[in-house]
Amino acid sequence: MKLATITFVNLIVLSSAIIGDKEKHDRFIIACHTTDFECFKRQYRSLRDKVLLGSLQFAIDFYKPYLFRYGDSGTCIKLSGLEESELVGISMDSDSKEYLLTLELPLRIQQTTNKTEICMKPDVEFKNVGPHIGPYRSFNGNATIKATFPYELRKRKGDIYLLLKEEDLDVILDIPDLRPPIRLMSNEGGSGYEISEWAYEVVEHIDAARHFALPYTTNIRLFSSTVPVHKYLLLYPEEEYADLKFAFYDSD
Ligand SMILES: *[C@@H]1O[C@H](CO)[C@@H](O)[C@H](O)[C@H]1NC(C)=O
Ligand SMILES: *[C@@H]1O[C@H](CO)[C@@H](O)[C@H](O)[C@H]1NC(C)=O
Repeated sequence: MKLATITFVNLIVLSSAIIGDKEKHDRFIIACHTTDFECFKRQYRSLRDKVLLGSLQFAIDFYKPYLFRYGDSGTCIKLSGLEESELVGISMDSDSKEYLLTLELPLRIQQTTNKTEICMKPDVEFKNVGPHIGPYRSFNGNATIKATFPYELRKRKGDIYLLLKEEDLDVILDIPDLRPPIRLMSNEGGSGYEISEWAYEVVEHIDAARHFALPYTTNIRLFSSTVPVHKYLLLYPEEEYADLKFAFYDSD
């Protein structure tokens, strides 16, 4: 008797938690008109923090930086920065059926110990990296990710969904040559140059599009397959989802 009562109470609590979650989930999806680039940027930021970096409701794994083994040094290289990515371009074209997002992010390339983290095998092994001595190295650059998704509109239970197919990824890692002009050469400038050389060499051992960007852009596809398009893309009376064309890009 007592047991049955407890179960019943639990059931009520559980179902109201689910309803609460649904409302919350609608609240953080920002809907934007096809003309409002600033709105798309806010929408992206909100999705990034609430969905794309991990979400129980959307069954999306929590974001982990990409780590790979750094030769026999007993250390790994960690690539991160997606958690600070910003939308700098968005376009949609119903003729080519392509949806394109351009993201910019601060790229951090950091050496870490291999004792506390699980590190992947790099695509190209480091051959001449021996036991590590001295402080760990790190480099801060920038990266740009262009994801071009072919899409299809699908009707499901009266709602239209934007179904994104596997994206074409273009990832640019911006590692500037920090070599100062000869006249300004200082000790600090010299080591900056060395560290950018190091960063450059290190990322040549991996396919950043496949291991760094793709796990994240995959979450954009997961999101659009579960949320009807009208929840995040608003139409004017004369517009239709089957006939949309817009393109915005930040110029610097
Ligand atoms: C860490 O690196 C050392 C040296 O290469 C290696 O012997 C050890 O197996 C590595 N540990 C892990 C957990 O991969
Ligand atoms: C990265 O981008 C920021 C903002 O655009 C800029 O201020 C910074 O100098 C860039 N860093 C590098 C290493 O290029």
